[in-house]
Amino acid sequence: MTVVPLGPDRLRDIIDIDAWAFPSARPLDEHVEWPQPLPWDRTYGIEDPTHPGRLAAFHASYAFADTPVPGGRLPVAGLTWVCVHPEFRRRGLLRTMMTAHLNHCRALGEPVSMLFAAEPGIYGRFGYGLAARQVTLTIPRGAALKPVPEDGLTVRIEHFDFDTHGALVARLHATVERPGWVTRPNEVHQRSYLSEVPPRKGDFETLRILVVEREGHEVGYGLFRRKFAWGTSGPAGTTRVVEVVGEDPAVLHAAWSRLLDFDLTTEVISPNLAVDDPVLSMLVDVRAAAPRTQDNLWVRVVDLPAALSGRRYQTDVDVVLDVRDDVLPDNAGRWRLQASGDAVSVQRTEDPADLSLDVRDLGAAYVGGTSLAELAAAGLVIEHTLGAVVRTSLAFGWHLAPVAGWVF
Ligand SMILES: CC(C)(COP(=O)(O)OP(=O)(O)OC[C@H]1O[C@@H](n2cnc3c(N)ncnc32)[C@H](O)[C@@H]1OP(=O)(O)O)[C@@H](O)C(=O)NCCC(=O)NCCS
Repeated sequence: MTVVPLGPDRLRDIIDIDAWAFPSARPLDEHVEWPQPLPWDRTYGIEDPTHPGRLAAFHASYAFADTPVPGGRLPVAGLTWVCVHPEFRRRGLLRTMMTAHLNHCRALGEPVSMLFAAEPGIYGRFGYGLAARQVTLTIPRGAALKPVPEDGLTVRIEHFDFDTHGALVARLHATVERPGWVTRPNEVHQRSYLSEVPPRKGDFETLRILVVEREGHEVGYGLFRRKFAWGTSGPAGTTRVVEVVGEDPAVLHAAWSRLLDFDLTTEVISPNLAVDDPVLSMLVDVRAAAPRTQDNLWVRVVDLPAALSGRRYQTDVDVVLDVRDDVLPDNAGRWRLQASGDAVSVQRTEDPADLSLDVRDLGAAYVGGTSLAELAAAGLVIEHTLGAVVRTSLAFGWHLAPVAGWVF
């Protein structure tokens, strides 16, 4: 079975197999009409040999051209829409597609691939490590925030309209420097993400936006949807926050304080937050917001020297890593990483290793969200030189925890 490119003429087949992999209550004819962000130069499938025209498997990847990594930005592939028809499960189709995907990344000069995993057990075998965790909150309406002066800020609350607000959302979203913060790469993608299709809207109202301004300049926004309900003791509505971006603490405080206090609501559900998102520190009673963590980004180092030299390090380091990579053997073997400020070099070496690790665990540590010390404590990183775990772990860390704020 070979992986072949798929064009827009195969949209119906693609949506069909997507609904086989991710069951949907909606009819296929309706799905096909939804705005789709599929990148047609990066969409691939495997044909069903028994039914010409039907697909047995398919996947795509987004070109996240300018993705923040610690101290820089890199072209990253966002692997997505991974589907295998139930009739063809466990016959190696995913493995075939993963080999193709990693080869495409190499060909396109994308040293890193990232994804959200439908199930956490799938992707480790292909060299993806759990690189970012996310927090979600269910915040009681009216939860107090520690005070931050909002001098000079004004807030508008409006229906979201792509032609009015799309550029503002795209501009501010792209300014965030947090590692892993992938941004919607083009207008088709932005329109799709901000659309009213049933998976996005559910039984909530249409999308709304809160825009924060300072001296006439738009400096932050919060996207949200509410749902009205009556409970036994009165109004019991919910606000679902889709995304909050703000240039500074005052802007974030202005946005969150409004989102937390809409009339007739009792709870506010947060989007995917980084484990160090400022709202966690702003909340007076974070326990009442019932924080829950789960895996966010999984990261695969595809081109080891390009990936390691494409980020910066929190402390200077000189270390020899012995890397195991059964899927991409070019990455395997001993590499000397030397970093001093902005000068980073990654070279093959015959010198003895200070640390041994699988490429999966290098991916886990890559954006600074999982420490090498944590992985070493779990027996996944082996120290050969005393102190190497501590100093390398410090170097790979970062002052901002990674997160992707939306699921791609
Ligand atoms: C998950 C899915 C893509 C796997 O496809 P597949 O063709 O059955 O996978 P393969 O036969 O190539 O399996 C490759 C390996 O992954 C393992 N694997 C596959 N799916 C797995 C899962 N859900 N959990 C754990 N391991 C899994 C297989 O056991 C096999 O292991 P091995 O290397 O030790 O032999 C497919 O079952 C599917 O489409 N599921 C529903 C949609 C989904 O979850 N997509 C993933 C989106 S991120």
